[in-house]
Amino acid sequence: QDARIARISSSIRVIPNFPKPGVMFQDITTMLLDPKAFKDTIDLFVERYKDKDISVVAGVEARGFIFGPPIALAIGAKFVPMRKPGKLPGEVISEEYSLEYGTDKMEMHVGAVEAGERAIVIDDLIATGGTLSAAIKLLERVGLHVVESACVIELPELKGRDRLGDKPLFVLIKAA
Ligand code: PRP
Ligand code: HPA
Repeated sequence: QDARIARISSSIRVIPNFPKPGVMFQDITTMLLDPKAFKDTIDLFVERYKDKDISVVAGVEARGFIFGPPIALAIGAKFVPMRKPGKLPGEVISEEYSLEYGTDKMEMHVGAVEAGERAIVIDDLIATGGTLSAAIKLLERVGLHVVESACVIELPELKGRDRLGDKPLFVLIKAA
């Protein structure tokens, strides 16, 4: 395994019982305070995607907005924000998805991408996989080829990977 992973892993803080009792919250803000760990994280994604003819990096609000843009700049792709409803000012296309309780919606600007472009989707973490699967669906609805989705952290116990079907998922760290 890449030696950089250990430093990245120890730069992530785990906060018990946030936002509610029983949750061990993986807090990536401490990684952002360690420029080497943050850079190594970006570099690992860039090394994986730089020669794959990717023209779209789609980032999921909010923490996909931290990791997506530096990856997009480094591989020469556009960055497309996937936002919570009511935030984007232009014409949007939206996808509803289920949460533990109730539903949420994700929106993207129409016209940000063209059918046939090759995309990756970035977020900080996959839990149940609802967020990433909605993002993938939305991008596929506008005719993109989603090559892979990528996260810093996976919570394997929640089996979010299963919700992505045969779509590949790349993660740096699996958290217990
Ligand atoms: C977290 C995380 C992912 C999502 C993963 O975001 O950053 O986006 O949950 O969960 P899932 O795999 O079960 O869909 P959160 O809902 O906390 O929203 P935020 O980024 O706006 O804080
Ligand atoms: N960290 C960040 N986002 C999350 C987590 C977590 O541990 N669990 C579900 N969403």
